[in-house]
Amino acid sequence: MALLPILRFPDPRLKKVAALVTKVDDSTRKLVADMAETMYEAPGIGLAATQVDVHKRIVVIDVSEDKSELRVFINPTLGRCEGSQIGEEGCLSVPGIYDKVERAERVSVTYLDLDGKQHMLEAEGLLAVCIQHEIDHLNGTVFVDHLSLLKQTRIKNKMAKQARVTA
Ligand code: NI
Repeated sequence: MALLPILRFPDPRLKKVAALVTKVDDSTRKLVADMAETMYEAPGIGLAATQVDVHKRIVVIDVSEDKSELRVFINPTLGRCEGSQIGEEGCLSVPGIYDKVERAERVSVTYLDLDGKQHMLEAEGLLAVCIQHEIDHLNGTVFVDHLSLLKQTRIKNKMAKQARVTA
């Protein structure tokens, strides 16, 4: 396994729309293992392939407290979305920034597992938020894009300052 570098907002590569995975094979499984390691190391509760500059529809999520429930979603598609919830979100691509985003309270998602088998999952609460946040990434959207333009500008300035400090 290997740690992968995470793209930082506003890197234009975060805006790419990821392609469907046409075949789940060993290279897919290797990428998923590396993504999981990268997410746990960060540490974070979700990571989309887009964030490690691989533009394929793959997401890893673990919202458990003891980091024991890795969930892998290949070609995830949202089905039913119900209700709404507003929660504070953060993102490994936008370190140090947290803000409120409105999401559906409950979602259903269809996806392939690591053997290429199709599943359907119904999720609510934090897992539902995380699924929506990560699928956004696959479509080239970062949570910051849901905020006001004023906030987006402030965040871009902050990120630019951080980049100068760490460069
Ligand atoms: Ni994110």
